[in-house]
Amino acid sequence: MVVEPRVKDYICTTAHPVGCAENVKNQIKYVKAQPKVEGPKKVLVIGASTGYGLASRIAVAFGYDADTLGVMFEKESNGRRTATAGFYNTRAFEEEAKKDGLYAKSINGDAFSLEIKQQVIDTIKADLGTVDMVIYSLAAPRRVTPDGHKYSSVLKTVGEEYSNKTLVLKDNTVTMAHIPAATEEEIENTIKVMGGEDWIDWMQALSDAGVLAEHVTTVAYSYIGPKITFPIYAEGSIGMAKKDLYRSSDIINEKFANVTSYIAINKALVTQSSAAIPVVPLYITLLYKQMKAKGVHEGCIEQMARLFLDKMAGEAETDENGFIRMDDWEMADDIQEAVAKNWDAVTSENVKELADIDGYWDEFYNMFGFKIDGVDYSADVDIM
Ligand code: NAI
Repeated sequence: MVVEPRVKDYICTTAHPVGCAENVKNQIKYVKAQPKVEGPKKVLVIGASTGYGLASRIAVAFGYDADTLGVMFEKESNGRRTATAGFYNTRAFEEEAKKDGLYAKSINGDAFSLEIKQQVIDTIKADLGTVDMVIYSLAAPRRVTPDGHKYSSVLKTVGEEYSNKTLVLKDNTVTMAHIPAATEEEIENTIKVMGGEDWIDWMQALSDAGVLAEHVTTVAYSYIGPKITFPIYAEGSIGMAKKDLYRSSDIINEKFANVTSYIAINKALVTQSSAAIPVVPLYITLLYKQMKAKGVHEGCIEQMARLFLDKMAGEAETDENGFIRMDDWEMADDIQEAVAKNWDAVTSENVKELADIDGYWDEFYNMFGFKIDGVDYSADVDIM
């Protein structure tokens, strides 16, 4: 069938199999053009199918020549509806990795569950023996804990309600977003979903099963950003979960003598998860405009290639808090000053001038395999 994008709010409900494959191949091409680096050889990537996790997997596979085992939560096609982008991305990744003689297997299921942890352990035992790197890149709206409890995360502020400008994605207008304050329970639930408890559970399960190598590195991702986004991000409900993630990284370092744990603070980018956060997409479009003008813009693959092949090659480069700062170029004074000035000035009328709206939408469509150069979108494609 001919697959067209169907955009609903901040998500596209279709994905193009050929476009997704092309997207993955382009990311691989980028990594292959970088000098190879000596690094971990058997890597588990949790949240491996889209965004930062997919880019991480590509960076370590083609930058370190690493075998990779990926975990994701994606939908297959039922013959009428397309699969999700992450499903097509993963299939394309596996094909390309195998062509280069790299091991690549993926497990599609709920990473929070004991069943999937066991499947991963069994697969490592059967195929790899041990892993020497664990990348934790989950972004999930809900979690069912092993005791059957369901938790949902919220994107709200902490303390007081907050109002600021936001980009209405359906018509590219700028309006005010009023973000309510989360209740104590909502904050606790968001921490359960996006905090570090499950990351520790993973490391414990892998350690107990004896599938961690003698020296293991693990990394999870966070975002800090500028003051404009503090109430909704760093100091909002998601920020509370990220603080829990930082504490979890310390716990992992203390608990497992053979594991070194890191937090990388990544750049704000268009991904399926960030599109859902109020205020943030407007900031991203203003940021892209400045970073592109100064020639320092990066997408997921440029960020993750720089993380694994540069900042984490050898001894990891960290700041005074122990964080690996991948947001260094985003947070540069000249960039932030220009963004803050435009933030005050931006309206529905001038948003196309001040912000990189087209760039945002290109990246948005690209995530689902659309608007990729060289793909014939009028052709019939097999969606299975
Ligand atoms: P994403 O939505 O593109 O990727 C999420 C991944 O998690 C996908 O592979 C998905 O299949 C997987 N996943 C979700 N629920 C799952 C479950 N229950 N079981 C197994 N797999 C599951 O998100 P993105 O943006 O790449 O986020 C990854 C991490 O990076 C998150 O921790 C996020 O907070 C962080 N981050 C994102 C930034 C951004 O601007 N997008 C900036 C800085 C950090």
